[in-house]
Amino acid sequence: MRWKSNKLKELRDQYIGMLSSLYGEDESKQLVHILTEHLFGVTPVRIALKPEKRLSESEILQFHQAVKELLKHKPIQHITGHTTFLDLKLAVNESVLIPRPETEELVQLIVEREKNNSVRLIDIGTGSGCIALAFKKHTPEAQVTAADISAEALKIAGQNAQKQHLEIDLIRIDVLHPDSYAALPVYDVVVSNPPYVTQSDKKLMQKNVLDYEPATALFVENENPLVFYVAILEFSRIHLANGGRIYFEINEQKGPDLVHLLEKHHYMEIALHLDMHGKERFLEAVKK
Ligand SMILES: C[S@@+](CC[C@H](N)C(=O)[O-])C[C@H]1O[C@@H](n2cnc3c(N)ncnc32)[C@H](O)[C@@H]1O
Repeated sequence: MRWKSNKLKELRDQYIGMLSSLYGEDESKQLVHILTEHLFGVTPVRIALKPEKRLSESEILQFHQAVKELLKHKPIQHITGHTTFLDLKLAVNESVLIPRPETEELVQLIVEREKNNSVRLIDIGTGSGCIALAFKKHTPEAQVTAADISAEALKIAGQNAQKQHLEIDLIRIDVLHPDSYAALPVYDVVVSNPPYVTQSDKKLMQKNVLDYEPATALFVENENPLVFYVAILEFSRIHLANGGRIYFEINEQKGPDLVHLLEKHHYMEIALHLDMHGKERFLEAVKK
């Protein structure tokens, strides 16, 4: 990669051009704007107002290195080290799933339903802590527990809780093994966005997800795609109060199967909700 100028505006335009073949022009502009803000604290407006602003040699190298990583499909959130989830700035790294916009919708649904109750909520498979923390922020009276099998994920969730001054409990469990959670109490709400991508759907996924995001957060076997939902219902048999609510994010193709599963477990008021793309993405139900 060669650069002809040390002017920020010209370098920015050069990098947008280079990234466009991979990301398209609009996304490339957005990515480069995020980088210039992250690396140099300069917004697009400031670049427009100060087109003569120059970068030092080491700043150019930093910029160059970040663009090289984007060209290798590295997610921008791993370059900046954070993402935004609703109104929270959360640290992320390769140990956690980068929270998706659909999951923000799930949290909005839960907050809407539970905001007037001082509930005890557990988020199973918390990753960065996004669901647990955003819920706690909007429902301060709630007692929130964030659980995950991954110690690295719990570390990030803990750092995020501390940074946001949000008090939640963090626990390590393997929801597929009841012995690991037998000592936990009863909750009023169970929520989970568990791994739900089948091995066959993996083929359709982008390189940035496959190369950089943790497989334990994403994939299930084709033969047992609902394994986590079944396990969470087993958890809820003992650890969800009667009349308590369960909320799931789901694979868009599994809505009817999961409704059937909840019926089989005698759940009531089962509702499937669409995400912003019109896909069946969320389920809620009440335990009898
Ligand atoms: C799809 S990610 C969701 C992360 C986060 N809640 C979000 O919505 O962005 C699933 C999470 O489940 C965790 N997980 C995978 N297997 C698990 C298990 N057996 N027990 C508990 N958590 C598990 C993963 O470590 C990962 O953090």
